[in-house]
Amino acid sequence: MASSRWLPYGRQWIDESDIAAVAEALASDFLTTGPRTTQFEGALSAYTGAPFSAAVNSGTSALHCAYAACGLSKDDEFITTPLTFAATANVGLELGAKVRFVDIDPLTGNIDPQLIPEALTERTKLIVPVDFTGRPAEYDLITPVARQVGARVVSDAAHSLGATYKGRKVGTLADATTLSLHPVKAMTTGEGGAILSADPVIDDQARRFRSHGMVKTLEITDREGAWYYEIQSLGLNYRITDIQCALGISQLLKLDRFIERRRAIVARYQEALSTLNAVIIPRDSDNASSGWHLFVLRLKEPKAELRRRLFDRMVDLGLRVQVHYIPVYWHPLYQDLGFQKGLCPHAEDYYRSCISLPLFPKMTDDDVDWSIEQILRAVNEIVE
Ligand SMILES: Cc1ncc(COP(=O)(O)O)c(C=O)c1O
Repeated sequence: MASSRWLPYGRQWIDESDIAAVAEALASDFLTTGPRTTQFEGALSAYTGAPFSAAVNSGTSALHCAYAACGLSKDDEFITTPLTFAATANVGLELGAKVRFVDIDPLTGNIDPQLIPEALTERTKLIVPVDFTGRPAEYDLITPVARQVGARVVSDAAHSLGATYKGRKVGTLADATTLSLHPVKAMTTGEGGAILSADPVIDDQARRFRSHGMVKTLEITDREGAWYYEIQSLGLNYRITDIQCALGISQLLKLDRFIERRRAIVARYQEALSTLNAVIIPRDSDNASSGWHLFVLRLKEPKAELRRRLFDRMVDLGLRVQVHYIPVYWHPLYQDLGFQKGLCPHAEDYYRSCISLPLFPKMTDDDVDWSIEQILRAVNEIVE
């Protein structure tokens, strides 16, 4: 029988101050991109240390804007990891570029810097590490490799807002960094995202791409009239609303507390699950302080059938766990492009062994204890 108590793997934490901020925005003159968007972008820059921030309406559109701003197009190649949400690769295909997948370091789940050189060609325009589960990738090893062929590094930091790498904050580690502000992420704007950078050209190009490639300068309006604007390059409507940014400003004030709470829950999981022999529990790394978007339990033996039974048992017990991720090139879209299973064995083993456990800051101590009880029960029944 299914449990009446349940916990999702992730969810938002909205309080009265968030609701008041959104209500105030709704009563204001601006619903679409307006002063709250500018304020939110300033707050993201102040928090991360990235000189430029452009807010958009999803993490996917942030990636699309960042790749376009870096000039990725037909005849170019980009390198990324298969252990990510498909959007990381999809937006590059949408721009006409070719993707090369590089396998992960099985310890961290992040792209393995040692394997990137084999995938480099003179067409490589971008390398896109994903800070998987919130742990920043090895940027100090990846950036010099990118520079060998004049490529740029775009960090897909959908999981890692608030994390640090060697003391440096996410947002300052790559040529451009993209965030997702979906409700399961570190903080939320409902749907949302942002492109962070230190390069005014990337920022300008990303802003243009977010709004139809439209340009309206004093020089243009003086010449042609106040109504006039020009579409100077291709772009779309990826604008975020001031309603969402009101929520973003309010959530950002609480981000450090959210992450602290995630760390405390992780410490509790690490302690309570360390007695299990058949599973691997994620640990902190020396170079990076994770934002702990996900806490992924892995079977020591990557067996798809066993993982399925464990997953189903956890769901039965009320844990609405998830699997992150199906290797991107396993999807039919990529198979149709000629990618073959077996390409990245570590990512495939990771996929066969992983389950993302409930982890979100609003979990109470009682929720955490209950979650641990169900995890121990399921693992002991199915695997140990
Ligand atoms: C690694 C990664 N990249 C990109 C995205 C896309 O973000 P969004 O859902 O905000 O479009 C996600 C979302 O889950 C993600 O996990």
